Amino acid sequence: MTSPRRILFVCLGNICRSPAAEGVTRAMAEGRGLTLDSAGTGGWHVGEPPYGPMQQAAARRGYDLSVLRARQFVPGDFLQFDLIVVMDADNRREVERQRPEGNHVPVRLMTEFAPETGARAVPDPYYTRDFDGALDLVETCARGLIASL
Ligand code: 4NP
Repeated sequence: MTSPRRILFVCLGNICRSPAAEGVTRAMAEGRGLTLDSAGTGGWHVGEPPYGPMQQAAARRGYDLSVLRARQFVPGDFLQFDLIVVMDADNRREVERQRPEGNHVPVRLMTEFAPETGARAVPDPYYTRDFDGALDLVETCARGLIASL
């Protein structure tokens, strides 16, 4: 397979983990010509910017998430992207449930790109309140993802 150029990050609400993954990867992969986006499997926050505490934690590290707006994942995303990166196993299940017949786009866990961490998911800081811990893991995974391309 040719190297993926269009990458979609998916979490539950699209206001914490996947916008962080999108923003961090965009900053780290600047100039590589990647098309990056993010979406949530749930629709509660559609149209909203990333969650305030997540934006602030990201901004402290130099990532501006303020222009991002939440949207819901749709089956058509399988046709628009050549790699889908999910934050946890629930996201993976919900995304796979919507896979169009005959579509073979890879769906990978974000943590697969940082096996050395031993993490099996990016814990949801909306619930854990550990925004910096989530960002630490997202940064490590984003480095691994970019290195894998
Ligand atoms: P995220 O976190 O999936 O990392 O964006 C969440 C934010 C909000 C909700 C769930 C997860 N929510 O149910 O409102």
